[in-house]
Amino acid sequence: MRIAVIGAGYVGLVTGACLSQLGWDVLCVDNDEDKINGLTNGVLPIHEPGLEDIIFRSANCQKLEFTSDLEWAVETCEVIFIAVGTPSLDDGSADLNCIIQVAKDIGHFMTGCRMVINKSTVPVGTGHTIGHIIQRELDRRQVNYSFDIISNPEFLREGNAVEDFLHPDRVVVGTESEAAAGIMIKIYRALLEKGTPFVITNLVSAEMIKYACNAFLAAKITFINEIANLCEPLGVNVRHVALAMGLDRRIGPDFLQPGPGYGGACFPKDTRALVSISEQVGAPLTLVQATIIANQNQRFKMVEKIAGQLGGLYGKTIGLLGLTFKPNTDDIRESPALTIIEELVNRGAFVKAYDPIGIENTARWIKADKHREENVKLCSDEYEVADQCNALVILTDWKQFKNLDLSRIKALLAEPFFFDLRNMYLRQTVEEHGLRYYGVGL
Ligand code: UDX
Repeated sequence: MRIAVIGAGYVGLVTGACLSQLGWDVLCVDNDEDKINGLTNGVLPIHEPGLEDIIFRSANCQKLEFTSDLEWAVETCEVIFIAVGTPSLDDGSADLNCIIQVAKDIGHFMTGCRMVINKSTVPVGTGHTIGHIIQRELDRRQVNYSFDIISNPEFLREGNAVEDFLHPDRVVVGTESEAAAGIMIKIYRALLEKGTPFVITNLVSAEMIKYACNAFLAAKITFINEIANLCEPLGVNVRHVALAMGLDRRIGPDFLQPGPGYGGACFPKDTRALVSISEQVGAPLTLVQATIIANQNQRFKMVEKIAGQLGGLYGKTIGLLGLTFKPNTDDIRESPALTIIEELVNRGAFVKAYDPIGIENTARWIKADKHREENVKLCSDEYEVADQCNALVILTDWKQFKNLDLSRIKALLAEPFFFDLRNMYLRQTVEEHGLRYYGVGL
């Protein structure tokens, strides 16, 4: 059995590489020829720990190939994973153009029975739509091949995606066909044998599971952010609150880390899409709506916190550490850092910033706007950022920011303001170096 993965973006590439690691022959397909040429020559379009190793090993023993020839992939692979983007449209709903095109192409090129497995996050009901599109194309060609549609949502976290794929909390399979469920079990047998729970359900339920998980996690982060904001004026330490909350097994300790708000390619997009779906069917999700608003407000609150302590932002230089939406990735999509930079600059501040691997992407984003270009300077390390700044602000919890030379930072800063928006430091440690410490909810 040969597997095609259509879309060599973040999810597709990790899926393709990890399926080859599980022993399958995989063909990764993308219409971006530069990307495919790069991958064929060992150049990865994304930074993801462990991925390069797997791709190198699997490609060397021909278990993983890359192509831009979709026709060849659909003709030669019985199992086809779809992992193309479903970005937000202006109204918050998911843009399904790519996935619809892929469904048409599958119907157009398939030459026998196929299993079509969707990994992209899509509105409930899209699996059925994919099935109708493929069938329409087959009817138009006047051929009669059977196919199954399966929803197999991914729960990969950037920076941890390989580990998440190979050691998932669960595998979700949504299908109306018992035979297809059997083949999915075969594909993931190695995980099943390790004791990974499988949830086998119907198509629409699997599609909903993905949205419900992301919306719940986004709400959980937002909840602790709001509790943290409330802790500050009341003199409460949110660390102790989160610790005690997390020890309640019904709540659990993960995703209770306050900060400048969630970002990334999934939570913002998927919460918006879920709200849009709920409105379309007249069952509005007010909690998710509030989460989106509170998460956006959190970014502005962080700027207000800095402005409040500094007595305004006009003419001030603010140093930012961390630009990516989370550590161990170069992804800046919907990163709180971008909103915070924009707001700082709009309020008359000059920004200096550093990120271990997100600099290139940020440089492109800065270049796209003249005002940003004039008011933001990217630096090559933490100390260059701190030099002559009125405040230093940690925005992303990169491990290396845990070991700053605080005496050096104090000596470099024009004013001793240290904003730790990921609560990485103990107040006492920072204050011992003559800095003024501000966390989130501390
Ligand atoms: C998320 C989901 O976790 C994953 O299952 C899904 O497949 C894709 O979306 P990802 O976006 O890679 O993964 O990152 P994640 O680790 O979930 O963090 C998302 C955002 O929440 C980051 O901006 C992070 O900084 C923030 N976050 C997370 C917090 O602010 N506090 C927390 O306690 C946890």
